[in-house]
Amino acid sequence: MRTHHCNELRESHIGQTVTLIGWVNSARDHGGLIFADLRDREGLTQCVFHPEDNPQAAKLSQTLREEDVVQVIGVVSKRIEGTLNDKLPTGAIEIVVRELRIVNKADVLPFQLDKDLSNEDLRMKYRYLDLRRARMSKNIRQRSIITAAARRYLDTSGFFEIETPILSNPTPEGARDFLVPSRLNPGRFYALPQAPQQYKQLMMVAGLEKYYQIARCFRDEDLRADRQPEFTQIDIEASFIGQDDIMTLVEGLLGTMFQAGLGVEIPASFPRMTYNDAMDIYGSDKPDTRYDMRIIDLADVFAATGFKIFRATLDGGGVVRAINAKGFAGITTGQMNRLNEIAIQAGLPVKTLAFVKCEDGEFKSPLWKFFTDAEKDALVAKLGMAEGDMVFFAAGSRDTVATILGRVRTECAVMMELNKDSTTFNFLWIVDFPLLALDEETGQWGAVHHPFTRPHPDDMEKLAAGDYANVRAVAYDVVLNGYELGGGSIRIHEKDLQARMFSVLGVGPEEQQIKFGHLLDAFRFGAPPHGGLALGLDRIAMLVAGEDSIREVIAFPKNNKGADLMSHSPCPVDLKQLREVYVQSTWKDPKPVP
Ligand code: AMO
Repeated sequence: MRTHHCNELRESHIGQTVTLIGWVNSARDHGGLIFADLRDREGLTQCVFHPEDNPQAAKLSQTLREEDVVQVIGVVSKRIEGTLNDKLPTGAIEIVVRELRIVNKADVLPFQLDKDLSNEDLRMKYRYLDLRRARMSKNIRQRSIITAAARRYLDTSGFFEIETPILSNPTPEGARDFLVPSRLNPGRFYALPQAPQQYKQLMMVAGLEKYYQIARCFRDEDLRADRQPEFTQIDIEASFIGQDDIMTLVEGLLGTMFQAGLGVEIPASFPRMTYNDAMDIYGSDKPDTRYDMRIIDLADVFAATGFKIFRATLDGGGVVRAINAKGFAGITTGQMNRLNEIAIQAGLPVKTLAFVKCEDGEFKSPLWKFFTDAEKDALVAKLGMAEGDMVFFAAGSRDTVATILGRVRTECAVMMELNKDSTTFNFLWIVDFPLLALDEETGQWGAVHHPFTRPHPDDMEKLAAGDYANVRAVAYDVVLNGYELGGGSIRIHEKDLQARMFSVLGVGPEEQQIKFGHLLDAFRFGAPPHGGLALGLDRIAMLVAGEDSIREVIAFPKNNKGADLMSHSPCPVDLKQLREVYVQSTWKDPKPVP
């Protein structure tokens, strides 16, 4: 239907007769002369209708409305001096239209496509219109480009792309499962995969050696800007490799993707930081290192303090730490209240964060009077406190202080807009994660990553001795600008060790056999050492696009309630359909998504 797309014609085409088809981006009447910008996914071309040369087309052009689909035949012509548009790649030419065909008329739109729209519900309801907007079209294109680059990189690195079942069994990745009733097996359910974790390990047992998949994953969990109930992983597994091999592979993979998507060169290898250091220094296992604002330990400053709270904390084996939010002394009361709220949620046992504000040449703080001159001097020196700074303190257990100051640090950065630079890419590996974490409520140990993660070889004795809190895992996360892009590990490939791990996690022999019998069986028949990682493709696409929600890089995302406002999914089903799959709803009056 066309000879060229709408971003193709240049001065070199002048004189040629061409056919274009697309949407009317805008139409304007300049004293009887009609100009219309024609748009397709590639760009814009200006079309002009001369009433004296071509009265029929010119007359029809007066009826053009935004988003009508039209086809034009015309001659590529040079724009007259003074009307050139150097912002547009096609800005030196225009099409003098000989023939205009209105292919399909558009109704008045529910919103304008050339304006940013804050009403997300409206955008989602008419997502197909939202996706016509230049920004969204660019995001979707960029995502396609980086996905293709990932495939190319992995294909040429010897990986096979292999699909795994969507109708599968539960696999523990820490979220709830989406269940699908089986009509052919009354009373039984499939679970949608939270990740293809067990299948990819079984592929290693199958001798496939190098696997990848652009894999859809499904997790029923609380949704956030970087979390969707269904999302996409670049899922990778390989045999006969160690942690460094996976890291090198992933550094190259991300390098290729960022080069393809943005034309930027990222470092060939990323810095590494242990989990413990990340928690101590940044209070997070996915620190944003674009800004400093480190957590500083003040044990030496307050070693001899008489200030009661700090004294009791240090004597009790706890820590006293602080961050210096440089230049944030102008914090508003509203911001301070918000920080207090965040700190309380993070475990602050009192109502307000302790602070020192450096303002008007004074140190303003309810605490200041409790410190000795030597402590004040040491504090100022250690935190580099200067006019305009705002220091926040926390005292308590090492973990709680890390969580409190980590959250306060991140929130201060948001308030001070230190996290806005979308052209700096600070990649970071977090290594040496703990293998296990204690659930305080149940008293049960759980896997920090998943139950298939290999314990650190140097910590096997601690595992045997039941010193679970101090066993590290051969697990690694790749982090970018405060987001966890991906995570993986070297796996357990020995049946006995895997069975032991399940026991530590409270899964007894019988349950192991029911839930993981296939994996334990497979490990009996010569399972190779193996490991892998999965990258969140949506998050990578989001950061490449400079967006702050993965909804902006997913064609048809769900809202924060897991609903699709365009197709009204999820929807109620009639009784007959439920009966067919042997399911009875206990919910009395299911209403469709509005
Ligand atoms: P993990 O659970 O860390 O590891 O997931 C890997 C990556 O997937 C992305 N991700 C998500 N993205 C959007 N929405 C979600 N709800 C969501 N959940 C996770 C993140 C995360 O880093 N099987 C292991 C990998 C392995 O061990 O090889 C796994 O799934 O970017």
